[in-house]
Amino acid sequence: MADIKKVGVLGAGLMGHGIAQVTATAGYDVVLREVDDATLEKGIGRIEKQLARAVEKGKSSQEDADAIRGRIHGTTDYADLADCDLVIEAITESLERKLEMWRAVDPIVKPEAIFATNTSSLAVIDQAAATTRPDRFIGLHYFNPAQVMKLTEVVRAVTTSDEAFQTGIDFATAQGKLATPTRDTAGFIVNRLLVPYMLDAIRAYEEGVGSVSEIDEAMKAGAGHPMGPLALSDFVGLDTLGSICDVLWDEFRERRFAQPPTLRKMLSAGWYGRKNGMGFYDYSGDAPVVNPGV
Ligand SMILES: NC(=O)c1ccc[n+]([C@@H]2O[C@H](COP(=O)([O-])OP(=O)(O)OC[C@H]3O[C@@H](n4cnc5c(N)ncnc54)[C@H](O)[C@@H]3O)[C@@H](O)[C@H]2O)c1
Repeated sequence: MADIKKVGVLGAGLMGHGIAQVTATAGYDVVLREVDDATLEKGIGRIEKQLARAVEKGKSSQEDADAIRGRIHGTTDYADLADCDLVIEAITESLERKLEMWRAVDPIVKPEAIFATNTSSLAVIDQAAATTRPDRFIGLHYFNPAQVMKLTEVVRAVTTSDEAFQTGIDFATAQGKLATPTRDTAGFIVNRLLVPYMLDAIRAYEEGVGSVSEIDEAMKAGAGHPMGPLALSDFVGLDTLGSICDVLWDEFRERRFAQPPTLRKMLSAGWYGRKNGMGFYDYSGDAPVVNPGV
């Protein structure tokens, strides 16, 4: 299997900063690339905050936290990815943006390196085929928050070699994840099942089955879920949820994957959920309250 020592992570948003942190925690050197300094600093700031919290809670020593932070090198320059053994992209869920990014990254990174996408819904082959290494291209699908969630879906595109696929399985396992193989089918395992559930919760709300908080509290108390489906939609990011269901809809043309009107309107209003403070809930105060505008 390919020997992985240095890992590039593209995007330091919700997922990218977490992937960078778990990767550095597992002992790998990480190059974390963002589009500008301010966004990069925000992502690294989140990592530092979580490392500090782990020390405060006695879950990590200061020495270990410093070592993890020391293994993460932030950059806005693609050239710093040149000698990475594995490059994982966690940028905005847009095929166009991802292809534009790979076109810039592919000629820079050493040819034997493996590329991976953390896409939630796009076909891995569509990105793989745009690079010069479709045999060394896999999906590594982490879950939010990547530092906490146990699962990584390891996706095999039709072009992926056995070696690259096994490297993905070994890498996710070395990070302490349950590495679950899945085929390159839109939504893979978890989102194929979870996204229609979140969309159905929005439809149930539209149909007056329950209020936002009644739906969320019912699923917590009645189904034992740690979070209700509308709070979960905010947590995933309504923009990301919207993009995922568009891709699933394009692929399957089934109503269960279509954006409910409420979601479409919330996206037009610029309400992206927790990440920008407004979604089904308003996060601007001490505790979330239901958004009266929904
Ligand atoms: N949100 C989730 O729960 C979740 C879970 C699993 C996978 N994903 C997937 O992870 C990816 C990122 O999602 P997110 O929720 O972290 O989004 P996000 O909006 O929080 O972060 C995306 C980041 O990518 C950066 N970016 C854009 N172009 C870039 C480039 N060329 N180079 C470097 N950085 C770039 C943006 O500045 C932004 O900070 C998407 O493909 C999404 O489908 C999301």
